[in-house]
Amino acid sequence: MCGIVAYVGEKDAYSLILKGLKRLEYRGYDSSGIALLEDGELNVYKKRGKVADLESQHAGKALKSTIGIGHTRWATHGEPNDVNAHPHYSNNRKLAIIHNGIIENYASIKQNLIKKGHVFQSETDTEVLIHFIEDIQHEAGNSLEDAVKLALREVVGAYAIVVMSVDHPGQLIAARKGSPLVIGIGENEFFFASDATPIIEYTKDVVYLDDYEVALVRDGKLTIQNLDNTETIPYIQTLEMELETIEKGGYDHFMIKEIFEQPRSIADSMRGRLNASEGHLQLGGLSGYMDDLVKAERIVIVGCGTSWHAGLVAEYLFEELARVNVEVEYASEFRYRNPVITEKDVVIAISQSGETADTLAAIELAKSKGATIFGICNVVGSSIARASHAGAYTHAGPEIGVASTKAFTAQVTVLTLMAIAVAKKKGTISDETYRHLLYEMENIPALVEKVFENATKIKEIAYIYKDSNNCLYLGRGFNYPVALEGALKLKEISYIHAEGYPAAEMKHGPIALIDEDMPVVFLATKDSSYEKIVSNIQEVKARKGRVIAIVTEGDTLIPSMVDFVIEVPEALEILTPLLSVIPLQLLSYYVAVMRGRNVDQPRNLAKSVTVE
Ligand code: M6R
Repeated sequence: MCGIVAYVGEKDAYSLILKGLKRLEYRGYDSSGIALLEDGELNVYKKRGKVADLESQHAGKALKSTIGIGHTRWATHGEPNDVNAHPHYSNNRKLAIIHNGIIENYASIKQNLIKKGHVFQSETDTEVLIHFIEDIQHEAGNSLEDAVKLALREVVGAYAIVVMSVDHPGQLIAARKGSPLVIGIGENEFFFASDATPIIEYTKDVVYLDDYEVALVRDGKLTIQNLDNTETIPYIQTLEMELETIEKGGYDHFMIKEIFEQPRSIADSMRGRLNASEGHLQLGGLSGYMDDLVKAERIVIVGCGTSWHAGLVAEYLFEELARVNVEVEYASEFRYRNPVITEKDVVIAISQSGETADTLAAIELAKSKGATIFGICNVVGSSIARASHAGAYTHAGPEIGVASTKAFTAQVTVLTLMAIAVAKKKGTISDETYRHLLYEMENIPALVEKVFENATKIKEIAYIYKDSNNCLYLGRGFNYPVALEGALKLKEISYIHAEGYPAAEMKHGPIALIDEDMPVVFLATKDSSYEKIVSNIQEVKARKGRVIAIVTEGDTLIPSMVDFVIEVPEALEILTPLLSVIPLQLLSYYVAVMRGRNVDQPRNLAKSVTVE
């Protein structure tokens, strides 16, 4: 949550940072701000609302500087307003800071500083941190970088920060713990950002800062030290991201672009890993740790939101194919539950961003108990990827829409490959089944493409149901997690109340909700639960519920019973989620657009949840 971007070099810092903030806006979008060093003055410009509001407030003004820091906020401490927006000044207004994360012990630090005469403008923890740094700097005549390190040794919580000072033109100090920070290295210029999206058009050389590291750019030179002053050699990596992957490319929203990208992103998740005609399946990131997966007595999967739903699909996959006991946990519950975990357990952490605070904490806990950790992340170099013993990137490409779409199908793809590989090694599937599964997997992108042929029909259905107040999603087996995912998609972007349930649970309570105003979306593909789902549909129709059913192409029974059907191509039951989720993504998207919602940046949400 929150996006930070900073620049020092020879270019115009204001326009560069503003552009960077627009790229990072998906991380938080309730206010934004920029601090610049202009003719020896440290000036802060900030505004409640979107980055565009900040831009229009300063349109026409000549904001000239070659050094600056910028921030787009997702409020934690203090409501979203101009004052609480970042950057924040220190007490003497000689320092400014941007911060992503939470300083948990800010209240006690603030009290001490107030006693010393500090006056605070905002309600934020961030302003306390920069006052604290100033206080330490002056107390014993510390250099600014030492003051930053000393302050960070005292604070509890998570942070990615960049600090600039009016007394040190040309200098930026950055640090991280628990919140991402990447440094771009250009020709006589440096960039700092929460992720690489503001950087890629200028340089592909980047350094990912590690926890407890402090980066200092001074006199055109980058040095990195730990909080205890040990110097580390910057490890420069080459970004593989391409600019067009973070632009809308002619689509109205990132979400619809990302939905339609899925044939390619699913193929990318398999690229180099799967070759059906050669019977080849290998996930490079797992080699060396495959035995742990094969011998695991239990697999515990942790994640949040959509990633947790992908974990539920994986539970069905691993149990079905590899005959191993699987438990799927909300990372936020797992981390505080004193769970029974031993070195015989394998933990799979699933996260698109690789930065979700609860998931990161869950794996640290499992690691401390001796479990082997596999990370399934989309963002390369992310905290979860780095904290894991082994893992596989999903390679879906940047996902910018807050609602997760292509990341989900990429996660399910990678988890399916993992389950097949483990099953083959354990001997729980025959060679024939193994071969067959590989061919079926290879064919999935083409089948997803076919689902898109129904887009116009889905739009028409969306128009009919767009004014609903509630919606129920029901599915069984592999389609149960898809029902949950469909409901999450609808509620988060359209603000329609939606619930997902295992279809058989309906009669234990939710059936009381059914009347002629209740749309019910059934996942009713031809699989081992088909007859049971047909009965559930009848139970809903008997109570006048309005049913939209996702069915297998060519089904004639269910279309005769329900209000609308959306067909998906026939596929193996275990691969159904990769197809049946697509119409639900499209339905949510069209409903949200018709209701006039901000699809890519729904209210109260942020793409990367780096706070608890
Ligand atoms: O980055 P992660 O996959 O760890 O994020 C987990 C959830 O915050 C995320 O899936 C969230 O639920 C999405 N908004 C769902 O569309």
